[in-house]
Amino acid sequence: MAQKEQSWGSRVGVILAVAGSAVGLGNFLRFPGNAAQNGGGAFMIPYFTALILLGFPIGWAEWTIGRYGGRKGFHSAPMILGVVGKGRVARYLGVTGVLVPLVVYFYYVVIESWCLQYAFKYFTGGLGIRGAAVADQVAASTDTFALVTAQRADGAMFHADHMSVLVAFLATFVLNLYFVHRGLSKGVELVCRYAMPVMAICGLAVLIRVMTLGTPDPSHPDQNVLTGLGFMWNPNFSKLSDAKTWMAAAGQVFFTLSVGFGVIINYASYLKKKDDVVLSGLTASATNEFFEVALGGMITIPAAVIFLGLALAQKTTGGTFSTGFIALPVVFAHMPFGVVFGGLWFFMLFLAAITSSLSMLQPVRAFLMETLDLEGGLATAVLGAVTFVGCGFVMFFSKDLIALDTLDFWVGTFVIFILAALQLVAFGWIFGIDRGFAEAEHGALMRIPRIFKFIMKYVAPTYLLVVFVMFCVQNVPSYVRSLSETPIAVYSWLLILGAIAVIAAVTVLGSRRLRARGMDIDGKEEV
Ligand code: TRP
Repeated sequence: MAQKEQSWGSRVGVILAVAGSAVGLGNFLRFPGNAAQNGGGAFMIPYFTALILLGFPIGWAEWTIGRYGGRKGFHSAPMILGVVGKGRVARYLGVTGVLVPLVVYFYYVVIESWCLQYAFKYFTGGLGIRGAAVADQVAASTDTFALVTAQRADGAMFHADHMSVLVAFLATFVLNLYFVHRGLSKGVELVCRYAMPVMAICGLAVLIRVMTLGTPDPSHPDQNVLTGLGFMWNPNFSKLSDAKTWMAAAGQVFFTLSVGFGVIINYASYLKKKDDVVLSGLTASATNEFFEVALGGMITIPAAVIFLGLALAQKTTGGTFSTGFIALPVVFAHMPFGVVFGGLWFFMLFLAAITSSLSMLQPVRAFLMETLDLEGGLATAVLGAVTFVGCGFVMFFSKDLIALDTLDFWVGTFVIFILAALQLVAFGWIFGIDRGFAEAEHGALMRIPRIFKFIMKYVAPTYLLVVFVMFCVQNVPSYVRSLSETPIAVYSWLLILGAIAVIAAVTVLGSRRLRARGMDIDGKEEV
């Protein structure tokens, strides 16, 4: 089987790959808006609480489960969870570990191609922000974004004036398939090895530019670096009594770390028994936090305040996309050498996105190879066909980005809680916490502090459950209501259900095939 040959080239390589998966649009688009709206500096309290009580423990569980499953000969989430969770229930719930990366890819790669388009526009002369007054410039920037995303009407993307967007999309799409097809060490690992340092350099360059802006407009002395940082980071502790803040923090931690998605479980399955998982997991997460807090948190929103002023910044930095794609281009238009920094910024976003989107394709490709016994080329072809349909769906139903938002809510947020819970239960309760810790510490370069036994078994599941229930009460009704308000929400649901049905059917086929081959798919034999 071709899969057996897959492996990581080096220890640093796998850490960079997981860090590359983690650092993505979530760090630069999702985090700043989330933090600014949920108490600024005070947001760091629920954020770091979730990082320690959920992010690290689930991450360790996932690395450990993945490596264990790999040793038993499995690389896909359903099969691995089936062995670790001892049976069918865990195996079928493990379908979510393929669903999440696949469906998130459908829209993530589309956003990735916007970044490429913006970078390209900067490198070829700027975005053409018009008008003298800032408000007019924001309007012009909004128009550009609406055009690139075709969000004014369904089907608009396939008209002639969106040609360049389609080309950027196809380029992004083909690049992703190409690198995932080349296999782990020559594809994902190679890209991450180069992209991570380049991203750090581009990010630091933009950061230094923003931090040295001072008070660029003497007629607005209140618009300077300090007020910018203050707007983002001054703590508003009253937000801590709002349940929403705690949910936003937990959701952000999952999304940004790529924990609980079925990604790490696949990446770790190519490790050997003696390879470290504890320190590697921690290092990858720490790298992500550097990009999130030091770069994501210091650039976009402060820059928007410096040039647009507080009032406008408040208006334009509310949504995930408006900060990055609407406010920032206006900011770059004002900045000395803004075209260069704008180009660097969007190129960095593109790199951050592609290292993440590759991590969504790889688990799905491994799943196809393992369950259907496809060889590499065929697996890539099937993957290409399936994702083409999914991405086409998101690109066609572009009006107000409803399809994108619906998929992001149900799969990119809701299902993640279920998968994360499954991994915690499989690790802490079914596999057993003591056995799990012993397994984690094979070859480990550091010990997991003992307190995490208690955290992983009791605290994390409880915390997860509480946050999940609050999340459902607050958000689910409005999304359910949208089903009766727009057919696009219904179509998105049909797409999700279709994906679940297909993945489940393939899992059934795969289980039969692997069992017939004499493999222990129910985790009965102890090692
Ligand atoms: N962590 C990435 C980010 O911050 C997102 C991401 C990477 C992701 N891999 C994933 C989301 C798999 C869902 C599934 O942008």
